[in-house]
Amino acid sequence: MSEASRESLSRIDEEFSTQNSEAALRLSKIDWDFKVRIVTNEIENVHPYPAKFISDLPAAFLDSLPLKRDSIILDPFCGSGTTVAEAQRRGYSSLGVDLNPIACLMARVKTSAVPENISDSISNVCKMMDKTADIAIPPIPNLGHWFKRPIQVALARLTAAVDAMPEGHQDFLRLAASSIIVRVSNQESDTRYAAIEKPVNASDVQSHFRRSCERLASALAVRTYELLPATIIQSDLLEVDLDAFSGRIGAIITSPPYPNAYEYWLYHKYRMWWLGHDPIAVKEKEIGARAHFFKKNRHTSQTFVDQMSRAFEKFQSLLMPGGWVCFVVGRSIIHGETIDNGAIVQEAGERTGLKLVYRGERNVLSSRKSFNLSHANIKKEKVIVMRKVSS
Ligand SMILES: C[S@@+](CC[C@H](N)C(=O)[O-])C[C@H]1O[C@@H](n2cnc3c(N)ncnc32)[C@H](O)[C@@H]1O
Repeated sequence: MSEASRESLSRIDEEFSTQNSEAALRLSKIDWDFKVRIVTNEIENVHPYPAKFISDLPAAFLDSLPLKRDSIILDPFCGSGTTVAEAQRRGYSSLGVDLNPIACLMARVKTSAVPENISDSISNVCKMMDKTADIAIPPIPNLGHWFKRPIQVALARLTAAVDAMPEGHQDFLRLAASSIIVRVSNQESDTRYAAIEKPVNASDVQSHFRRSCERLASALAVRTYELLPATIIQSDLLEVDLDAFSGRIGAIITSPPYPNAYEYWLYHKYRMWWLGHDPIAVKEKEIGARAHFFKKNRHTSQTFVDQMSRAFEKFQSLLMPGGWVCFVVGRSIIHGETIDNGAIVQEAGERTGLKLVYRGERNVLSSRKSFNLSHANIKKEKVIVMRKVSS
């Protein structure tokens, strides 16, 4: 290597190390608990999702790190799409990957415009529901326990009508339909899995659907920023081919599934059945699903170590030089043993050559723990920021 190129490399290294110290200082000044939320965006509440980010979290990373304007922001476990929506709000293109079809539906709708003439399709769905006489009820396991017969018929009519609408309207209508499924079921609430007697009848399906469409349209319509492209890929992260994004990712901002804590497939099981997806296939590939820890050849904490190693190998080739990786992760309890998922993530990153820039901790406020089931009971999360080296 010539003297000139050695000098230029050492200049870049110096610049990177200054940027790292400045970023670490900015990150250390953030109150990661976000006790007082300044703004709650309407699109955050269009549909429930377990263990989702409050938007302040990805916003804090996006606002504190020196990101290149043309970089793409990736959330490899994008869930309901909080990171991609916050990236879009700040003028970045983004990429989200998630295994769960309801997550991807949410992320797509939250980053899209209100479809033109959607009100025509909403009226047409309701008209079609009124006209459909005979309808086959889909063969969904244990349906009678969770849905009264007249509700089953109304939901079958609703989903068939939605499927008959123009393709560009279907995501919007399907998300509105998905958001009412627990409300019209016998399930006590989104977080309580008991079947109870509820005062719902078949006509409520249509009225709740209409209201849900109105709420969704108004939450999407208040966005005034340009809707830069957000690509959402429904896939197992460990198997997906992301070569088209090689070297183009400026920051990865994510929260992975915590082993043996939440069950995203179970939470959305009936939504998936009604919308024509197979929740059992999702369960098989879901990282950390509790079911994997109670079977023959059961998963252990080493399984999560291996999964994170595979994920970070992918990240390394996707990141541009100097790209950032931001993780928020809580601990797990597996067969009585407490597992430090933060350390697992950090070590997986360091094994692929990433440099630790910042490590902090946040308290998960009890008022925001509506999805924190007793076996999860996560009170603290680690905030970890790493960086790909300059060359
Ligand atoms: C903590 S949640 C992410 C929530 C997200 N930050 C939000 O704001 O909604 C973790 C996500 O990982 C997803 N997931 C689990 N296994 C996966 C896999 N093998 N590939 C891709 N995503 C997976 C789950 O479906 C879930 O949405």
